[in-house]
Amino acid sequence: MVDQAEDLRKMMKEMNGSDAVKGYGGHRKTRVITVSSGKGGVGKTNLAINLGIAYAQLGKRVVVMDADLGLANVNVCLGIIPKYNLFHLIKKQKTMKDIIIDTKYGIQIVAGASGFSKIANLTDAERDVFISELDTLSYADVLIIDTGAGVGQNVLSFVIASDEVIIVTTPEPTAITDAYGIIKIIATEINNPALELKLIVNRATSVIEGRKVAERVINIANQFLNVKVDNLGIIYEDIIIPQSVRKQMPFIINDPKAKASQCVKHIVSRLEGVEFKEGGGLKNFLAKMMGTK
Ligand SMILES: Nc1ncnc2c1ncn2[C@@H]1O[C@H](COP(=O)(O)OP(=O)(O)OP(=O)(O)O)[C@@H](O)[C@H]1O
Ligand SMILES: [Mg+2]
Repeated sequence: MVDQAEDLRKMMKEMNGSDAVKGYGGHRKTRVITVSSGKGGVGKTNLAINLGIAYAQLGKRVVVMDADLGLANVNVCLGIIPKYNLFHLIKKQKTMKDIIIDTKYGIQIVAGASGFSKIANLTDAERDVFISELDTLSYADVLIIDTGAGVGQNVLSFVIASDEVIIVTTPEPTAITDAYGIIKIIATEINNPALELKLIVNRATSVIEGRKVAERVINIANQFLNVKVDNLGIIYEDIIIPQSVRKQMPFIINDPKAKASQCVKHIVSRLEGVEFKEGGGLKNFLAKMMGTK
C-alpha cells in the first residue's frame, strides 16, 4: 500500500513544485489538504466544502475533491448533479478537465465516484490514470481532499500522499477513540516525516469541552506514538449545519455570521497564519471561543 501511494505522493510533490504553474503566472504552489476521520459522520464533507469556500473568499483558487469512492456526497451537499465524476476519469472515459465542475460559491469540485468498493484498492492501471490526471489540478492554490471515514486503502493512499492531514473528531468517546486509531495507523504505516497532522474538534458545545477533547487526543498521540498533532480548534455544534445540508447549501454561505461559519473562517486564518480580519475584540473573542487561545 505504501508503494502504491509513493507515486501519488510524488505527484503531489510535483504539484508543489514550480513546474505546476501552467499558465497562471508566478511561482504557484498547490497546498494539498486531506480531511479524514476515524469514525464516519463526524463532519468531514461539510468541513471540506466550507473550508474551501472560506479559502476562496481569501482569493485562492480552490478545488474540493470528493475522494470518497464509496459514498460520494460533496455534490449532494451543494445541490449539484454531476454529469461525470471520478469513476469516469478512473475508467478513462473522461479527463479531469471534463469532470471538474464550477460552482457558484467560488470553488471548483471534482465529484466522487459512488459505486467503487470502499475497501477495494484501485488497480494499478486505474491509479496511474488518476495520478496522471491529477496534474491538471496543479493550477489550484489549494486542493482539499474529502475522504471517506476510516482506513480503507484508498483513503490511506490519499493520506499518505498529502503533506497535511486534518483529522476531524467530535467529543463523543467513540469518535475520539477512532481519531486516535487513525492517527496511530498513519503514524505506524506511513513513513513521511513531512506529514503534518492537525486536529479539529467538530460539534463542540463549549470551548472547554473542545479544548479538553483536543488535548486528550494530542497528548495521547504525543505520549504513546511520539506524534505531533496540531490543534486547529473547534467547530461549534450549530443547527445551521443540518439546516444548510437540507437546503443543499454550504452553511458559510447560508449564514456567514453563524457560529460554525465563524469557526471555519478562523480555522482558515490559522492554516494561513494570517489574522482573522474582524476587529480586535471579535478576533480575540473568537480565538477564545475556538479554544485556540
Ligand atoms: N458542527 C455541527 N453541528 C451540527 N451538526 C453537524 C455539525 N457537523 C456536522 N453535523 C451533522 O452531521 C452530518 C454529517 O456530516 P458530514 O456529512 O459532513 O460528515 P462526514 O464525516 O463527511 O460523514 P461520512 O463519514 O459519512 O462521509 C451533517 O449532515 C450534519 O447534519
Ligand atoms: Mg463525507
